[in-house]
Amino acid sequence: MPSLVLRERMENMSLVLVITIALFFGHIGDSEGGDLRKDFYKSACPLAEEIVKDITWKHVASNSVLPAKFLRMHFHDCFVRGCDGSVLLDSTAKHRAEKEAVPNQSLSGFDVIDKIKEKLEETCPGIVSCADILALVARDSVSFQFKKSMWEVLTGRRDGRISRQSEALSNIPSPFFNFASLKQSFANKGLSLHDLVVLSGGHTIGVGHCNFFSNRLYNFSGKGDQDPSLNPTYASQLKAQCKTLSDNTTTLAMDPGSPLSFDSHYYMALNQNQGLFQSDAALLTNKESSKIVSKLLDQDGFFTEFGQSMKRMGAVQVLTGSNGEIRKKCNVIN
Ligand code: HEM
Repeated sequence: MPSLVLRERMENMSLVLVITIALFFGHIGDSEGGDLRKDFYKSACPLAEEIVKDITWKHVASNSVLPAKFLRMHFHDCFVRGCDGSVLLDSTAKHRAEKEAVPNQSLSGFDVIDKIKEKLEETCPGIVSCADILALVARDSVSFQFKKSMWEVLTGRRDGRISRQSEALSNIPSPFFNFASLKQSFANKGLSLHDLVVLSGGHTIGVGHCNFFSNRLYNFSGKGDQDPSLNPTYASQLKAQCKTLSDNTTTLAMDPGSPLSFDSHYYMALNQNQGLFQSDAALLTNKESSKIVSKLLDQDGFFTEFGQSMKRMGAVQVLTGSNGEIRKKCNVIN
């Protein structure tokens, strides 16, 4: 018997030892961030995060649509070759870049990223990646409304050297997707159904062009009909603004009533069948997903979940260590 007790004690001790070693090397507790770290630039560029925040806040103060642009830009970056800043690259003589793909043509704010990069290169040249700048700018721009950071951004991403229009088209989910395609698109990036529903809450800010949803108003099943899952009163309001099936210039708020405010109102609108895109409405077509929608009506709950899902999205296929490079300018490779 005593030898059994001894063996158990020794097993417990070795378990403690394994956990201690794992914690020391950082392999436990960062399962969402992989090789990314908190305060990656603390010693090499201690002012990095402050510089990003200051310049971002200065620009958002005078341009309230920027948070929507940056949040979407970060999402589109992460879904194509991972969060590697590839969305920031310009086309070359040989290749059309991600920027030129239809879903990216309404992105803006690249000039702000360039200004931040310029300042960082002055302060600590060759240290801070464009991929990290984008992840921080997405967080800081949304956080401006609250005057505090809304989620933690781990850093240590490095920049990719490839950007292809075709890859943006094939990896960024379409607003015409049904539930199964949306779920698959997120699963392809290692993200769950829960992440899909939570991150769709990004549509609480910003606008959408009519042509991404006008089929729901004018020609849903090819017979000149309206999407029966769309709230009819809301549909008439939309029709008053998007007058034709082909209007590709008018934009409408995705979260009617509060398009500049980051809040959980998107889920309230969604639950009243006022999701703008088919991809929004699709979240109500699955039992598990619509349960999550109802839970996210609670704003504090939404904020917590959004932060956690952003952390997972921000870690998708990141380049770390000696992979990739630290670009000198965000729009061209070194
Ligand atoms: C689930 C699949 C998604 C689809 C199909 C989708 C689709 C779209 C479309 C079509 C637009 C309108 C673009 C335009 O007309 O200019 C849009 C806007 C936007 N999306 Fe998504 N999106 C998805 C997920 C996300 C995620 C995960 C985020 C961020 C976490 C996000 C953030 C935004 C924001 C902030 C805007 C507004 C952009 C602006 O005002 O310019 N979306 N999305």
